[in-house]
Amino acid sequence: MTQDELFKTLVAHCKEYGFIFPSSEIYDGLAAVYDYGQMGSELKNNIKRYWWEAMVRLHENIVGIDSCIFMHPKIWEASGHVSAFNDPLIDNKDSKKRYRADVLIEDYIAKLEEKINKEVEKARKKFGEAFDEAKFLETNPNVLRNRTKIDEVRKRMADALNANDFAELRQIIVDCDIVCPISGTKNWTEVRQFNLMFSTQLGNTSDDTNVIYLRPETAQGIFVNYLNVQKTGRMKIPFGIAQIGKAFRNEIVARQFIFRMREFEQMEMQFFIKPGTELDWFAKWKEARLAWHKALGMGEQNYRFHDHEKLAHYANAATDIEFNFPFGFKELEGIHSRTDFDLGNHQKYSGKKIQYFDPETGESYTPYVIETSIGVDRMVLAVLSNSLREETLENGEKRIVLSIPAPLAPVKVAVLPLLKKDGLPELAQTVMDELKYDFNCQYDEKDSIGKRYRRQDAIGTPFCVTVDHDSLQDHCVTIRHRDTMAQERVRIEDLHKIINDQVSMTSLLKHLK
Ligand code: GAP
Repeated sequence: MTQDELFKTLVAHCKEYGFIFPSSEIYDGLAAVYDYGQMGSELKNNIKRYWWEAMVRLHENIVGIDSCIFMHPKIWEASGHVSAFNDPLIDNKDSKKRYRADVLIEDYIAKLEEKINKEVEKARKKFGEAFDEAKFLETNPNVLRNRTKIDEVRKRMADALNANDFAELRQIIVDCDIVCPISGTKNWTEVRQFNLMFSTQLGNTSDDTNVIYLRPETAQGIFVNYLNVQKTGRMKIPFGIAQIGKAFRNEIVARQFIFRMREFEQMEMQFFIKPGTELDWFAKWKEARLAWHKALGMGEQNYRFHDHEKLAHYANAATDIEFNFPFGFKELEGIHSRTDFDLGNHQKYSGKKIQYFDPETGESYTPYVIETSIGVDRMVLAVLSNSLREETLENGEKRIVLSIPAPLAPVKVAVLPLLKKDGLPELAQTVMDELKYDFNCQYDEKDSIGKRYRRQDAIGTPFCVTVDHDSLQDHCVTIRHRDTMAQERVRIEDLHKIINDQVSMTSLLKHLK
């Protein structure tokens, strides 16, 4: 399967097996909004639990909160979102389609990178074992030409974005001969700024003074509760506040399924530190967050850091943890050194003193902040796209399997009576009753055992337990492992331990030590 086919198969699979549905589907859907079905919501909850326990439970100096989506409108002035949370947009006059100017340029760069990769693959085939990739990349004229072009365009774009120079952004698009993917023409408008926040009215008047925003990040709920948490929790710097919750952005280029949505969920942690220590803490959190991802065993080669060329309005250092999605390496998580920008501004706009008194040194200061921010939905997409496989079995049949990391799998174990008679369903129910308090179990007695295995493979269930006639005598069952399809005969009383060893969140968390 090509990456493109894999992605289309994944979207169809998510719908067919109850992971993700287009929102309001019976009304033809709502663009860039998706609902999670019975399997998707279990997976999402397991991801959130993994994050919460890794951040809050395993760190004695991190606590969690749950703040509201609606907040005082001044918060978004203080945070800079009213003035600076914008995307540069450009329209194609022929197709009437609107694009983010920086995304058009990034897509152009991705195409040049693709050309380099193709050149390398061609040479690898031609020279076989003798092929020296590093040397080829350093000397091949086509590669060097494309590499120079990439560096040049990247630098021009970063400079233009940093300077908010929209005429230059448009000029890059013109100079690179970028055409509209729909109309194929270069008939572009000027580049304009577009604010990404959704607004609505509080109460029953439509007067401008009552305008409030749906939060575009959960972080501000943490900043405005800093004093409450620090005082009531008697927190000492360094300490963190974590939160999981919905965020909303009026994304213009909303695409790639749940990668970029208008309503999505974030898991954010703000770590409050002494000014001057931020670069050390930034490095520590980069390492800690990458370790969290790697512990899932989804392939170390699928992650990389990407340091920001254009820093957000609040940051003095920033990096993304990028994941190898079916459409290439893209941002999964952001780690930002936010300085005292947010607390400092809230102090200014609210008129309340937001300071930390250090009992050891006797000084007071506005804390600096390191933020880790990951989208739950992007994490769901990373897990699902990394897990979906089509395999050809020895007998020539195909099976679709979701090799979801076992602690995140929606259903942990399926209990299957071989036949719907002879007391097998009753014994299977007893097995269910023993397991269901600790594991999400599914009982299935319909169709052949082979079809039932396939159904469980398709939703990523790590274990199937089959109850047969011998089970009535020897109190043993057959346990089948999802990834290897290996089967073993085990005692019913041993099932709990065998399953727990593979699926428990605790063993996953212990990898983080
Ligand atoms: N508080 C900082 C902040 O919000 P961000 O880089 O804009 O930073 C953090 O967003 C994370 O939120 C991203 O790494 C991504 O995983 C997720 N995210 C952002 N916009 C999203 C969208 N439109 N749809 C889905 N996830 C999104």
